Amino acid sequence: MSEMFPLTLSNLSVRRRGKTVLGPIDLVIDQGGPMMVIGPNGSGKTTLLRVMHGIERISEGTATWAQSDQANHGYVFQSPVVLRRSVAENLSYPLQLINTPKPQIKTAVDHWIDRIGLTKVKDGSATRLSGGERQKLAIARALIRDPDVLFLDEPCSNLDGQSTREIEALLLATAAAGTRVIMATHDMGQARRLASGVLFVMGGRIIETGSAPDIFSAPKTAELKAFLKGDILI
Ligand SMILES: Nc1ncnc2c1ncn2[C@@H]1O[C@H](COP(=O)(O)OP(=O)(O)O)[C@@H](O)[C@H]1O
Ligand SMILES: [Mg+2]
Repeated sequence: MSEMFPLTLSNLSVRRRGKTVLGPIDLVIDQGGPMMVIGPNGSGKTTLLRVMHGIERISEGTATWAQSDQANHGYVFQSPVVLRRSVAENLSYPLQLINTPKPQIKTAVDHWIDRIGLTKVKDGSATRLSGGERQKLAIARALIRDPDVLFLDEPCSNLDGQSTREIEALLLATAAAGTRVIMATHDMGQARRLASGVLFVMGGRIIETGSAPDIFSAPKTAELKAFLKGDILI
């Protein structure tokens, strides 16, 4: 098990152009099942994920892993990013960066290409894949380094039902294998299917957090009740 947890956010704020877009937030993230980050558009979900992954400039406070030298986390963007290389090369690249021995790279690439169903096109250019295939490739590229945490920012927002189902199955298997999945989604059906825990964000603040059954069946705050009912919130 990973020693990098917990991740502690203390009095953390992100300000841009004089406006507080996130915070102040105090939050401890420990190991566990898939955590869904939900909330209206512009509420700060993306900013929060980027803060946790360490790619967002923090204006105040801190975000600290218990053992940052062991922090191994991947990030999947809303729009899949693929390299202008072959499908197989997209997968071998992150392992080459950490000097993995060649035979090991080959085994891992073959395994992951098969898992995402792209063996037939492994030598084709990744830029010719469909949106769903690209997103699966982006997820496999993050998972090939066996991260302890995988952050995903609305990875299915532009995808068809079939790709979404495949990605959900992949994420559940990933979580079952011990990777902490932390994912923003605006799709409440998806949140219910995947979540073990939920973070509800609004106006840059964490309004409510808890286990999925509690959040969905017994929301406490007026804001979360309204959000789950489908009311328009600002
Ligand atoms: N670089 C930036 N400069 C100014 N405003 C920003 C910047 N990044 C995000 N924001 C603002 O921060 C708020 C939260 O954005 P975001 O985290 O993308 O929310 P969500 O992912 O929930 O839609 C929004 O009001 C957005 O316009
Ligand atoms: Mg977002």
